[in-house]
Amino acid sequence: MCGIVGAVSANNIVPILVQGLQRLEYRGYDSCGVAVHQGGELRRSRSTSRVAELRTMTEDDGVASGTGIAHTRWATHGAPAVHNAHPHFSRGQIALVHNGIIENHDELRDELKAKGYVFESQTDTEVIAHLVHHLYAGDLLEAVQGAVLRLRGAYAIAVFCRDEPGRVVGAREGSPLILGVGTESGTQADPTARYLASDAMALAGVTDRIVYLEEGDVVDLQLGKHWVLARDGERFKPTEREVKIVQAHSGAAELGPYRHYMQKEIFEQPRALADTLEGVEGITPELFGDGAYSVFKNVDRVLILACGTSSYSGMTAKYWLESIAKIPCSVEIASEYRYRDSVPDPRTLVVTISQSGETADTLAALKHARSLGMEHTLTICNVATSAMVRECKLAYITRAGVEVGVASTKAFSTQLAGLFLLTLALAQVRGHLTDEQEAQHLKAMRHLPVALQAVLALEPQVVAWAEAFARKENALFLGRGLHYPIALEGALKLKEISYIHAEAYPAGELKHGPLALVTAEMPVVTVAPNDALLEKLKSNLQEVRARGGELFVFADDDTKIESSPGLHVIRMPEHYGALSPILHVVPLQLLAYHTACARGTDVDKPRNLAKSVTVE
Ligand code: AGP
Repeated sequence: MCGIVGAVSANNIVPILVQGLQRLEYRGYDSCGVAVHQGGELRRSRSTSRVAELRTMTEDDGVASGTGIAHTRWATHGAPAVHNAHPHFSRGQIALVHNGIIENHDELRDELKAKGYVFESQTDTEVIAHLVHHLYAGDLLEAVQGAVLRLRGAYAIAVFCRDEPGRVVGAREGSPLILGVGTESGTQADPTARYLASDAMALAGVTDRIVYLEEGDVVDLQLGKHWVLARDGERFKPTEREVKIVQAHSGAAELGPYRHYMQKEIFEQPRALADTLEGVEGITPELFGDGAYSVFKNVDRVLILACGTSSYSGMTAKYWLESIAKIPCSVEIASEYRYRDSVPDPRTLVVTISQSGETADTLAALKHARSLGMEHTLTICNVATSAMVRECKLAYITRAGVEVGVASTKAFSTQLAGLFLLTLALAQVRGHLTDEQEAQHLKAMRHLPVALQAVLALEPQVVAWAEAFARKENALFLGRGLHYPIALEGALKLKEISYIHAEAYPAGELKHGPLALVTAEMPVVTVAPNDALLEKLKSNLQEVRARGGELFVFADDDTKIESSPGLHVIRMPEHYGALSPILHVVPLQLLAYHTACARGTDVDKPRNLAKSVTVE
């Protein structure tokens, strides 16, 4: 999704801006651009191609300056086209980039048009550029303060003015923005430099001194100095924000022997799980942060808020929490929860789950829950420096490492590990976990990396199935109980990257409608662990076979489900108990991956999707 980098420096900052955009590339974008102050005027290069092309353009055109801003755009208002790409200019004087969505852009556009402003794009961003220009009377900081007071919606902006070289102003509300302070070391080695970015990762290797701007902040960057102003109603007051030392990863992981990042990330799962569980010697609430014991003692229910794949790990956790920790749990899609009337209970543990920690809907749902008086908040998140971690009282940081592929894989399995630990910690505090049970669960968790290796070894068999799937346009996924969310995740993976229409159902629900879809043309993927529901599931498989449906079953070794005409079986290891979903999701990831490869899609950057969904 959209990315921002901006800087003032005594040196040429164009290579740093472009490198920053490259570090944000994995988030998904459809155009990119850079603008600088050069020769007393604004200069800009924009492209609907990759950032590498933008780099060549800037080099060929001799674009160089100590003041500039850059952007990767994921289209919301207006098609992915050069004229819609950021930075946007206003009358050759103001240059601006923006992440987020301005809800009152129509009203502002009409107002600005009436004042004679001409719009070159269909974006909501150009409205902000003209608004800043309209309010500019010699001081960019004042103009930006005036402009943001008029905006409704979410924004992170970086802006500079032709008449004030060496100055960049930023502002945020609802979209992340950080300030970087230059150091003697790093790629730029300029302690007078100041940077803006939507994500610390953009500044990896450039500076490790980061200020996380807060909601409503406006920031003024000049050589060797910066000021932060905090919004207080309709006014702004100077404020101090702590400079933190942050070791951001560059994210530019090598592909190694893999064809795509997604494949690499699927195969990284044993290591990601081992890293996530490293240092877990025993179950204690303090795994989730200081004060977790008293929080866990004071809650009677769990509310999980998440989107997409992260919501499926939440759905899996609901089964664990209710059966092992005996605590009621509800799981809500964040984009729905934030807008619906619900009945709040202050004795609720609100758990957000997010790979990126920047998902706008999940952050807004968290805010909404807090506004309803639910103050006990915890996040399971993969990015320690993210807004989600900063906003929640308690956290468990999964150590999946940077996930580049848009389709989430290792983040999901490590979320499940974090959620299982949460289940055990709550069970312990609530008196439902004996020492013996704790030891057994921990033993099974520690064995997961080895168990996963055995599942990954099934890849050649999955490749053979993928060839058949690549010719289909529809697929059904079935699971029961703990493995129903895994079926949902398998279907999401397949549609995201292969563009095959896939739906998942609890297998017992089939006869209530979806069975009508079953023909010889409909592949039915089934997750078949050897759990208490196996016999019920076998009956559901019979219902499909009786209608001529073709079954593709991932069956635990001890299920006695054998291959026969119309029934294909890949044998999983023996049943892995409560942690079985972590194993069963892997072949579904591989099936989606190899089907997408066979169809020739852009696996790591599927059409229309972004890695980090920072708009609503
Ligand atoms: C996963 O494959 C998806 N790309 C998507 O559903 C993702 O899980 C969702 O957008 C939530 O993201 P988050 O975990 O970063 O909050």
